[in-house]
Amino acid sequence: MKIILGCDHAGLELKEKIAQHLKESGFLTEDIGTYSADSVDYPIYASRVAQAVAAGRADRGILVCGSGLGMCITANRIPGVRAVQVSEPYAAKMSRRHNDSNVLCLAGRLLGQDLAMEIVDVWLNEYFEGGRHQRRVEMIDQLNQPADCSEPNPIGK
Ligand code: RB5
Repeated sequence: MKIILGCDHAGLELKEKIAQHLKESGFLTEDIGTYSADSVDYPIYASRVAQAVAAGRADRGILVCGSGLGMCITANRIPGVRAVQVSEPYAAKMSRRHNDSNVLCLAGRLLGQDLAMEIVDVWLNEYFEGGRHQRRVEMIDQLNQPADCSEPNPIGK
């Protein structure tokens, strides 16, 4: 499994620790930056990671900013991406089992290192259950289809 990683300045320290942890665990990784503590704009890194996952250039993505929120909002603009902002292992587990999440967004300014690694490990080791959850995930993807405007608007009648 290949994991692509990205962060802004507020997520740098935690992203570096996660990258090291993943390498030690035997995952193939790609780190698209940022690589310094200079202030940068998180949408640049979130969109790069999300586009790589959507295009199949990586199996999963991990994004770290101060709160994890801006990364998550941005990544979810890319069709095919199901990004989640997670602060504890239960949500990490359920986001895989029920939502087939493919991008994990973490808060570098909130999470301790041990908790962050626990979240990452749970998220990488859980499997999507499919079944009724597959139908629901497909319903999410359908929201990216162009609206059907072939019928007259009933409100106008
Ligand atoms: C940067 O100060 C901060 O806004 C960013 O890291 C992130 O938390 C945004 O959602």
